[in-house]
Amino acid sequence: MAYTASVLTISDKGSRGERVDKSGPALVEALTNAGYTVIHTEIIPDEFHIIAKALTNSSDQLGANLILTTGGTGFSPRDITPEATQSVIERSTPGLVEYTRQESLKITPKAALSRAAAGIRGKSLIINMPGSPKAATEHIGFLLPILGHGLDILLELDGECARP
Ligand code: MTE
Repeated sequence: MAYTASVLTISDKGSRGERVDKSGPALVEALTNAGYTVIHTEIIPDEFHIIAKALTNSSDQLGANLILTTGGTGFSPRDITPEATQSVIERSTPGLVEYTRQESLKITPKAALSRAAAGIRGKSLIINMPGSPKAATEHIGFLLPILGHGLDILLELDGECARP
């Protein structure tokens, strides 16, 4: 199945046109190569309500199966992506964050600095990724092999886990 995806780049500078967004396009390329149909991309500032509204729009209005955010998961006072995400998810999926952190720690101990969240809203899976193109690309690379199975279960296309 060709899942639909929305990619939200969360960056004050990006939203003001002061920084070229490389992470969003990197995620779009990785998703497209994996067979996903990217139906929406957006660059928004690090504002709680704007992030929450963009997430609910991608989920409730656009019906994206997968919603990726990139940026705003660190320690900067403006980094608020995980909190905005927690405010809109209905069921958390901590295993995805644990897995990407575990794999990322093999690359850099700074992976411990990510405060990323992930969870389900309706029929959408929302996952926070770090802001750098390198880190975002690494994260989607870790997740792509398992995401399809999770989305199939979420979309009630496949309830069977016992397969290779
Ligand atoms: N994860 C991977 N796989 N590779 C990385 O280079 N960088 C880390 C971390 N996770 C990194 C990573 C760093 S330096 C930070 S500060 C946090 O992600 C949060 O990034 P963000 O503030 O850009 O969202």
